[in-house]
Amino acid sequence: MIVIATIKEVAKEAGVSVATVSRVLNNKGYVNEDTRKRVMSSIEKLNYKPNAVARSLFKKKSKMIGLIVPDIKNPFFPELARAVEDVTNSEGYTLILCNSDDDFHKEQKYLDALKQKYVDGFIVVTSTLKAEHVEDHNIPLVALDRSIHPEIPAVYSNNYTGAKQATQYLLELGCRQIAHIRGPHHINNAEERYKGFTDVTKDQGLYDPKLVINGGYSIEKTIGVTSELLKKSPEIDGIFAGNDMMAIGVLKAAERLGLKVPEDLKIIGFDGIALCKTTSPEITTMAQPIYEMGTTAARMLLDFIEKKEVINTKQVFQVQLVERQSTRVSLKR
Ligand code: RIB
Repeated sequence: MIVIATIKEVAKEAGVSVATVSRVLNNKGYVNEDTRKRVMSSIEKLNYKPNAVARSLFKKKSKMIGLIVPDIKNPFFPELARAVEDVTNSEGYTLILCNSDDDFHKEQKYLDALKQKYVDGFIVVTSTLKAEHVEDHNIPLVALDRSIHPEIPAVYSNNYTGAKQATQYLLELGCRQIAHIRGPHHINNAEERYKGFTDVTKDQGLYDPKLVINGGYSIEKTIGVTSELLKKSPEIDGIFAGNDMMAIGVLKAAERLGLKVPEDLKIIGFDGIALCKTTSPEITTMAQPIYEMGTTAARMLLDFIEKKEVINTKQVFQVQLVERQSTRVSLKR
């Protein structure tokens, strides 16, 4: 049976106080060399492992970081989490991944629970928490992918510009009846993408509110609403979906209606998730630099935790057009 030695047993074995053992463990305060050697040999002899919970209680630091995302089923978030974890792991931190279902109460519960465990910082993807909800936790926090408040450090993409690019691209391909499958109204980046789309179509005199529907950032919902839309408006020749999961839903709806993509209908998404390279045809998208966003947010948070100076607390990345067969016949294999 493995008996776990306590700090008291180490102190007894070495003939010193618990405080002295603690100073040796935390390399804090004065300990003479002989005493240090005695303590270290007792630690080795008893195979003592400092208790991480006790250490975090003592130091009020746990080397743990909480990452809260709204939907772990959406491949965008695992790709983002992978990037965050590569940085936090390389710096000796443990990453705790939390799925919030975009629910305010669940997000608050995670923030409170992890605060009780003395996490050293948070990275959150949220569209419900406001500044007042996070400031009173008084723990380093970076908003990733979706900003919370101009005063709160954040890393995200230029959603508005990316949406304008997507819409202009469909126009350049000759589309004139362009629909937009938008994300949920309460999510700020869905709103920005919607605004980019409407500004371009209004500017061209092509805006029609009947051609904007909410796909909820989900495949299933998008299949249903897009099927209805395409039946009602068969003249639609191009669709800009506010994220790649909805673009996949549009492709599915088009297939069920016997439409050829891109000949009858051109489709462009937004995100740049790997899944869009596996569909047939592969889906054109406005790719966010997902990995770079995740590593940047992680490094920014670690700088806050380690009290290093952070020059730029708002990092906005440009998105990039990735052309595939869902918009360009010539690219079809
Ligand atoms: O696909 C999930 C969406 O939510 C992405 O567009 C990403 O920006 C996140 O906010």
